Amino acid sequence: MNCELSLRLQTCLDALHPLQSIADIGTDHAYLPCAGLLRGQLKRAIAADVGGGPLEAAKATISKYNLDDLIETRLGSGLSVIKPGEVEGVVIAGMGGKLITSILEADIPLAKSFNRLILQPNLDANVLRTFLMKNQFEIVDEKIVLDEKKIYEIIVVQPSQTPVVYNELDLEFGPVLRRQSSCKVFEERWQKEYDKNNQIINQLPAHHPRIDALNHRQSLLKEVLKK
Ligand SMILES: C[S@@+](CC[C@H](N)C(=O)[O-])C[C@H]1O[C@@H](n2cnc3c(N)ncnc32)[C@H](O)[C@@H]1O
Repeated sequence: MNCELSLRLQTCLDALHPLQSIADIGTDHAYLPCAGLLRGQLKRAIAADVGGGPLEAAKATISKYNLDDLIETRLGSGLSVIKPGEVEGVVIAGMGGKLITSILEADIPLAKSFNRLILQPNLDANVLRTFLMKNQFEIVDEKIVLDEKKIYEIIVVQPSQTPVVYNELDLEFGPVLRRQSSCKVFEERWQKEYDKNNQIINQLPAHHPRIDALNHRQSLLKEVLKK
């Protein structure tokens, strides 16, 4: 039996390799853990969600694929449903970067107990990266994908023994992503913002209070787009 995954969730699942036991926080329909088990990429999973409705949907998917013995469901907020040492890694996907940050911030020692964390913020990735740097989580890989006309960033993280230092470009555009040579999706995404900002700048009076911030943003975008 097969469980189709979006490119976004498939990329999160692939980023877990070679971990075999994981928790999917905010699992909703539990598509990622089900696909991981069915494809043999995972051996055991915890599917957790703060919402009763999403957790019922998760249970229905798990039963549909006869995975009840291999995927446990848990109702509760963030990492509070996980005990240290229960799983090797976690996925927190499909939420805002600020919400993912607050989930990690609520129990930093537990977050640091995982071998790897796969984080997929729908927005505010810079807020999440700043939190990761300040709390000594290293970004070991990043992916950017175009899925159903939307662009998503996937951040792969490991706790670090040594301080983690990122500059403004790293935090805004991703320390791994911005150094990748010729990634079309990455370029398209930031070129779009650059063009939009140019239009705004051209329409604003020269001394408008937003001009300085917009010009600074344009200089960062220029650098990352190597203009
Ligand atoms: C948009 S869905 C994403 C589902 C799936 N992770 C994905 O990426 O497709 C967000 C899910 O996160 C859950 N959620 C929101 N805040 C949460 C929290 N603090 N702890 C656990 N789950 C949470 C919501 O109930 C919802 O089911």
